[in-house]
Amino acid sequence: MPDFSFEKDPFESFLGLLAEAESHKVPEYNAMTLSTVGLDEKPSSRVVLFKGLVRGGLSFYTNYQGSKSIQISRNPNVALNFFWPTLEQQIRIQGQSEKMTRAESEEYFRQRPRESQIGAWASAQSELLKNLDELDLRFEETKKKFAGQEVPCPPHWGGFIVRPDHFEFWFGRKGRLHERYIYEKEGTSWKRFMKFP
Ligand SMILES: Cc1cc2nc3c(=O)[nH]c(=O)nc-3n(C[C@H](O)[C@H](O)[C@H](O)COP(=O)(O)O)c2cc1C
Repeated sequence: MPDFSFEKDPFESFLGLLAEAESHKVPEYNAMTLSTVGLDEKPSSRVVLFKGLVRGGLSFYTNYQGSKSIQISRNPNVALNFFWPTLEQQIRIQGQSEKMTRAESEEYFRQRPRESQIGAWASAQSELLKNLDELDLRFEETKKKFAGQEVPCPPHWGGFIVRPDHFEFWFGRKGRLHERYIYEKEGTSWKRFMKFP
């Protein structure tokens, strides 16, 4: 039985289940599908990595000039989804996203491997790329540019925080009689209910 109780605060359940997924060695256990609303009102999904709770929100890091960031700046409503197939568990989250402070983004950037720091400068995320040589060349040029010095956090790179107002914890069961536990924010407390699978 997973480390879950409907009585608990949803953040506590989320962190407990995430820790279990890590201890069960679920590949990419902290990968979450992030769905945003496009400028054309169409939904758009991609995977990003969950990097901890920051000021009561789920954090991830990205390029602020990429598609997802432009979409979030127009519409902060997002959805997140964790799926751990080997555990038959899914966590669905909805909420509003906001940019981290520059100091928070810089602090995280300093802890990143040097190659990832260089990559953040070299990749114009979501822009058209001619071919892989163009990307490799930009990487090598950036590497030379910062040789012998610390790589600073690019102004166009940083974190987002998603503040949830909806959680659903889903546990697979035999005969498709799955369990669904839902939390919806009501002021400062959470309304709890279940749904048929
Ligand atoms: C396992 C995995 C983890 C990823 N983690 C991130 C991430 O943390 N941040 C990020 O910007 N992109 C990440 N990506 C790449 C995104 O899925 C996506 O391709 C990229 O952010 C561009 O999306 P956009 O054009 O919609 O902005 C990851 C992809 C995978 C498959």
